[in-house]
Amino acid sequence: MVQTHHLYINGEWVKTDNQLEVLNKYTQEVYAKVSKAGEKEVEQATTAAETAFKENPLPPYERYKILKKVSGLLQENKEELAKNITMEAGKPLKQTRTEIDRATQTIELSAEEAKRIHGEGVPVEAAPGSENRMAYTMKVPVGVVGAISPFNFPMNLVAHKIAPAIAAGNTVVLKPASNTPITALKLAELFEQAGLPKGFLNVVVGSGSTVGQQMMEDERINLYTFTGSANVGLKLKQNTGLNKLILELGNNSPVIVDKEADLDKAASNIAQKSFAFAGQVCISVQRLYVHEDIQEAFQDKLFQAIDQLNVGDPNDPETDVGPMISEGEAERAEQWIQEAEGSGAKVVYGGKREGALLHPTVIANVKNDMKVVCEEIFAPVVSMIPFSDFKECIDEVNKSQYGLQGGIFTKNLETAFYAAKHVHVGGLMINDSSQYRVDLMPYGGVKSSGWGKEGPKYAIEDMTEERLIVFNLDQ
Ligand code: SIN
Repeated sequence: MVQTHHLYINGEWVKTDNQLEVLNKYTQEVYAKVSKAGEKEVEQATTAAETAFKENPLPPYERYKILKKVSGLLQENKEELAKNITMEAGKPLKQTRTEIDRATQTIELSAEEAKRIHGEGVPVEAAPGSENRMAYTMKVPVGVVGAISPFNFPMNLVAHKIAPAIAAGNTVVLKPASNTPITALKLAELFEQAGLPKGFLNVVVGSGSTVGQQMMEDERINLYTFTGSANVGLKLKQNTGLNKLILELGNNSPVIVDKEADLDKAASNIAQKSFAFAGQVCISVQRLYVHEDIQEAFQDKLFQAIDQLNVGDPNDPETDVGPMISEGEAERAEQWIQEAEGSGAKVVYGGKREGALLHPTVIANVKNDMKVVCEEIFAPVVSMIPFSDFKECIDEVNKSQYGLQGGIFTKNLETAFYAAKHVHVGGLMINDSSQYRVDLMPYGGVKSSGWGKEGPKYAIEDMTEERLIVFNLDQ
């Protein structure tokens, strides 16, 4: 049966005449119909958020209690929520179960952080002439947070935006991705059940060019937190004046397999981490630099490890690689592969596409200016690039416009230290692939990968302002 869902504005479920169809990404059948926001609903959502912020501030212990309750409710509803993500995103069930566990942690961490937000004493009396003054700083919420989330982690990346915002005492207008909006609405239901007062969280569904654009132009929104493409991130930056921004943008993640690596561990890790959720993760392995001395041995092990992956129906709990978000996206990735082949690249593993399902693919003989290398492919496609000189390899890695996370497999400490010092990324994983993330760590990139950090503690830094208070005791 086709489900129906509505917008969540000012504590009410709002039905509109305009509906968005959400497909089951494996069967391509309509799975749900969701009310779409127009100008009026976006306006109401922002007004509700502004009013709640001004008129009904929540003390930190209340924020803690509500967030803690939501994290419990997530676990209580884990199976249903995981299945929903599998339907609307096409993400394999074993990965969506993990995503619910991760979101539980994200929200629980945010709850704990709510009790730790504090300023510090400032010793102004140490400055001549200020002997009779006393000062301290406070961390105050920024106000209304505009959150725009992507399709690839419809629960956990929404949690990373909403939970720290609420922990910090802000209110939120959220626009979830239009191909996976249901999870965000289900999360809003849990916030409602946990007693979040009206106006604190508002969910408006619609496209970037309508809902997103209107949010971008609304001066009542004090901070934007966005995950998505570098192009949209740049547009936000150019159009939101001096407002604060947290931007998590793209990447073409580099991973290096050095000649002194444990090849078995590297191969099995890279096979898992390149193709999980069909490579639609900002930190999926994309550029795989392999030392030429071990290339043949490593490649054999890598292909054997990829052979072990189950490809197909995301509802099957054994599946590792399911469909991409749409057939159009799979076709786009296939086109990039064909374009590379036209310029001399060679598909050495996989390459087959059935509708939205693109099988794990490895390409060799690539050049730096091929899209499969220099753009973010966001698909289960890895480019293998041989190297002989480690320092030159790092220079190649750094030529990318992106810099979110990278990885290096090596047993040599000096090599690892050199990489740590010289790779220009937001995070470098030693003896792991680029795709390592736990939700308490600071997560964010440099260059065109964005700025600001996710991870509740770090996001709360951005989602609060420091206010200095100085008492003059000479009256
Ligand atoms: C992302 O795609 O940026 C999120 C990756 C993750 O949270 O594991």
